[in-house]
Amino acid sequence: MAKDSFTVTGDGKTAVGPLFLMQKMPAGFNKASLDWKYTMIMPDGKVFGATGGKNAAAMKFCYECHNGVAPDQDAVMLLPEEFRVK
Ligand code: HEC
Repeated sequence: MAKDSFTVTGDGKTAVGPLFLMQKMPAGFNKASLDWKYTMIMPDGKVFGATGGKNAAAMKFCYECHNGVAPDQDAVMLLPEEFRVK
């Protein structure tokens, strides 16, 4: 899954933000992240970090938050049930 982002400064200027990726890896990839690989790509195209790869320690905060909806939703942040298309 991929999620783009943007930032807004106090004086109303907008800028491109990081690209966030989540990829479900084979069982045993990383127990703490529930086998999800989290990657953050900066607006200049450089990879800031990835679970099990570059800067992995700095990527722990991704699954520390996403694991809040595990195991019910396998760490995927979904809309509340009443707002989902059936
Ligand atoms: C403080 C909590 C928090 C942190 C930290 C966080 N996320 Fe998320 N993430 C969310 C929420 C809430 C959503 C759903 C709302 C949205 O899309 O903004 C989401 C959505 C996503 C999605 C879209 C799929 C989905 O689950 O809805 C991806 C991909 C994603 N995040 C990747 C990352 C990555 C990569 C990092 C670390 C660099 C990260 N997230 C850090 C809370 C978090």
